Amino acid sequence: MSTAIQPYTLLDDEDCEARILRARETLGDRLVMLCHHYQRDEVFKHADFTGDSLKLSRQAASSKADYIVFCGVHFMAEVADILSRPDQVSILPDMSAGCSMADMADLQNVERAWQELSEVLNPEEVITPVTYINSAADLKGFCGEHGGIVCTSTNARHVLEWCFQQREKVLFFPDQHLGRNTGYTMDIPMDEMVVWDYDKPLGGLTIEQIQKAKIILWKGFCSVHQMFQPEQIDNFKQKYPETKIISHPESPFEVCHKSDYVGSTEYIINTIAEAEPGTRWLVATELNLVNRLHEQFKHEGKNVHFMSPNVCMCSTMFRIDPQHLAWVLENLVEGHVVNQVSVPGSVTEQAKLALDRMLDVSP
Ligand code: 13P
Ligand code: SF4
Repeated sequence: MSTAIQPYTLLDDEDCEARILRARETLGDRLVMLCHHYQRDEVFKHADFTGDSLKLSRQAASSKADYIVFCGVHFMAEVADILSRPDQVSILPDMSAGCSMADMADLQNVERAWQELSEVLNPEEVITPVTYINSAADLKGFCGEHGGIVCTSTNARHVLEWCFQQREKVLFFPDQHLGRNTGYTMDIPMDEMVVWDYDKPLGGLTIEQIQKAKIILWKGFCSVHQMFQPEQIDNFKQKYPETKIISHPESPFEVCHKSDYVGSTEYIINTIAEAEPGTRWLVATELNLVNRLHEQFKHEGKNVHFMSPNVCMCSTMFRIDPQHLAWVLENLVEGHVVNQVSVPGSVTEQAKLALDRMLDVSP
């Protein structure tokens, strides 16, 4: 056992597997492993609980284990730390497993936007800030402090409905697509959903556009879901017209608009699981999940296809590998905590407020 990762990088996956299983047995119920659906199979198979961001947040909040090992990305381990008891430890096996979308909004830029908006209107009275859970803890703290809330891909609509009961407008960050796709289902006209370009003064908008807007969308996106295009649907349907299209709401508007179903990773899994045998599915979400669905349901005669002709894997989710997992677990057995994700107390309080508001309004 080494407190340095280096020796573990030389192990093959089978060695790691044996070490992971041994460490898990020793740690027993002092450990819980939460795994997001985009994790690779070699990691995913060790999960105690799998889920989308909402389900895993709830799991973290209710877990009694001393150690929460989060096989996902950094913001997820932060949420686990915020929602768990102070004496519980949240661990991310590889600290470089971030989320490129989450990095598109930072506190400085959001505070500047809030300040610039206050030159046009009084944001504290008319705008509810909403951060997608794919964001840093201090942005959740910003939302907590300013009467705002967090959302996930599962509850975005419920959250926006709550927001419009509080104030007339929403500032939605970092994912413009989730904001727009959700606003569209609520019959908000397209010209009342404007994009705030954080590199431009006043977000590149006119005063009239801001005054008219119902939702101000941050110019952020997921580089994985951005790859899906409506033409990919058209091309596939030419060959298989009976295909059902199902997309994650981080996909562009034109893709979601052409889809039969739109929802979170958990929703995608459940929808295909409940579908009739013999159905064919074209899926716009991350490759590891789509490959797993293909394998899982081919025996029921369901055909599950990946939407893009290119490989669209979340490279940061992929950083969690058996080597890092064996490393953190064997260290825990020896009483060493490596890769703890710890949100400062000052941020935790406000971020928890925004997360608790979300959990309260979620179905
Ligand atoms: P879900 O909450 O739908 O699993 O989405 C998380 C995510 O990061 C998708 O890119
Ligand atoms: Fe972030 Fe996109 Fe990866 Fe999800 S798929 S974790 S939004 S980069």
